[in-house]
Amino acid sequence: MMIILMKCLKRPTQYYMRVLSTWHGRDVITILDFSREDLETLFTLAREMERYAKSGIDILKGKIVALAFFEPSTRTRLSFAVAALRLGGKVIDFGSVEASSIAKGENLADTIRMLDAYSNAIVIRHYIDGAAKFAAEIAEVPVINAGDGSQNHPTQAMIDLYTIWREFETIDGLSIGLLGDLKYARTITSLIQGLVKFKVSKLYLISPLQLKPRDEVMQFIGGSGINYYHTSDLSEVINDLDVLYVVRIQKERFPDPLEYERVKGSYKVSLEILKKVKKKLIILHPLPRVDEIDLEVDNTEFAKYFKQASYGVPVRMALLTLILKDSEI
Ligand code: NCD
Repeated sequence: MMIILMKCLKRPTQYYMRVLSTWHGRDVITILDFSREDLETLFTLAREMERYAKSGIDILKGKIVALAFFEPSTRTRLSFAVAALRLGGKVIDFGSVEASSIAKGENLADTIRMLDAYSNAIVIRHYIDGAAKFAAEIAEVPVINAGDGSQNHPTQAMIDLYTIWREFETIDGLSIGLLGDLKYARTITSLIQGLVKFKVSKLYLISPLQLKPRDEVMQFIGGSGINYYHTSDLSEVINDLDVLYVVRIQKERFPDPLEYERVKGSYKVSLEILKKVKKKLIILHPLPRVDEIDLEVDNTEFAKYFKQASYGVPVRMALLTLILKDSEI
């Protein structure tokens, strides 16, 4: 891997030693724990990994990654599995909660202790806020947060930032719009936390008032020094954007079904609204999509969400490599 990194980053050997030692064995609980330099190393390696995303490269031979998904997932679970397999590693997965001893009442701590003993890294998704942090306190092996409640989804944010970086060759100087359920979508919180590490020109928060980011996230944005603006009207700002990041309404996280009914269907990206766009704009979405982007938008040059999903494999290959590869020159 050292060779791969040296090929893509033209820096002295000590640089690689330092980079590799900061990544090795690390938990990934929130993107706040990663510096801009860490993220740029990840992106550089991910770009190299794109070449191996279909063919594979034996970097993690003998390593086992445990997948512990306590919530539904398609892309995150499969792309983590594919990433480990393409690197020559192996994957264990307890399947659904119903198929494991959790259905018999086993507690999370005991489940984590077992996965810790059986594997070299644990990828966990859980409906409870803070579950990944809790697991990391128990496990000796690295724990990777694949989504905890409405709090964090750091590896999705890494993919989102990578997609922007790939499309524009930079993140600095861009205007980024976040559209939709900014209150409950964990990808939004993690993406905001990642964006503030770069010199973003402007952050547009586009949502109905009820779906504004939670108070603690608004405080974080306010304290970060980022230039931001809130509006509920996409058409007012769409022509200022370089990136439009859309999320679905997180119906399952609404404490009150009536609150959901009030905002259901309150925003949509349509061909009509895109007619206003006069410059390069990319539309991203962590997926799954429900009804917030019209299907016709998929065939436009704006739509990059399927490309973004495909980057899940090389980014997670790079991440697993940096965390798990035993250091060597
Ligand atoms: C997201 C999630 O689970 O938070 N999905 C994903 O990992 N790509 C987004 C969502 O569920 O809306």
